[in-house]
Amino acid sequence: MFPESNKGLSYEDCKATADWLLTQTDMRPTVGIVCGSGLGGLADLLKDQVAFNYEDIPNFPQSTVHGHAGRLVFGTMKGKPCVCMQGRFHLYEGYPIQKRFVVWFYSQITLPMRVFKLLGVQTVVITNAAGGLNQDFKVGDIMIIKDHINLPGFAGNNPLVGPNDERFGVRFPCMSDAYDRDLQQLAMEVGQELGYGDFLKEGVYCVLGGPSFETIAECRMLHLLGVDAVGMSTVHEVIVARHCGMRVFALSLITNLAVTDYDSEEKANHEDVLQAGNQRAEQMEQLVSSVVNRIEPNNNYI
Ligand code: HPA
Repeated sequence: MFPESNKGLSYEDCKATADWLLTQTDMRPTVGIVCGSGLGGLADLLKDQVAFNYEDIPNFPQSTVHGHAGRLVFGTMKGKPCVCMQGRFHLYEGYPIQKRFVVWFYSQITLPMRVFKLLGVQTVVITNAAGGLNQDFKVGDIMIIKDHINLPGFAGNNPLVGPNDERFGVRFPCMSDAYDRDLQQLAMEVGQELGYGDFLKEGVYCVLGGPSFETIAECRMLHLLGVDAVGMSTVHEVIVARHCGMRVFALSLITNLAVTDYDSEEKANHEDVLQAGNQRAEQMEQLVSSVVNRIEPNNNYI
């Protein structure tokens, strides 16, 4: 399954995938949702579902992680047409990030964002599970992401590496407005209305390549850098979504606290991540659906 060239999936490949999907359903989604680890239940909220297994969708990569179902689900959430990825793709899943493969690899794992765009999606809502670094955070907190640090990007691992296709976006996209401020504000308001004030936070998310969790020294370093939560996803999706002009709103569920103390007995593990996801899933789903309910096309909110 290794690529023969480093060219990656083209605009035409993404268009073929989107066009195929548009022949399979009449639904024309304006909101795209990505479910994080243990948060796949978000897709179950959709009404009038039409679902596709990733393996049946032309050009789609396959999800290999326990806790990620591997289905693209179309449906309405509070009357709004949505498309939802139940299972996402991570930096750590597939192929060696050697220079020769990097373009191909990233074009695979971020293909769904470009397909969202070509389906007519205007707003992407992304969720993830993350380790908390902010000393005020507790397990079960929901963090509205206000900014990110693309640590793999410091070493050249950015999903936009490779030839740029202007039909998607510009060569050098701005990232200082990556996370839509109006949507963050809206989510804070919605969270207060739902009575989530005690566990709704905001902060900076940092992506690492994974799949190993961080060492204590790495957690200490990230804390010093101003990181509030650390994970292994989201940022590559956000960069590609912003490149092609979609608005982004993202939430981290704090499933564990990063260990910064050598005397601690805590050990990060995937089972705890999934379990914490399940415990807070209902509130996370409620928050997302209430925000989606108030998103209107063309940058308006009600
Ligand atoms: N580190 C990295 N990724 C994660 C964590 C973590 O502590 N928790 C959930 N995803």
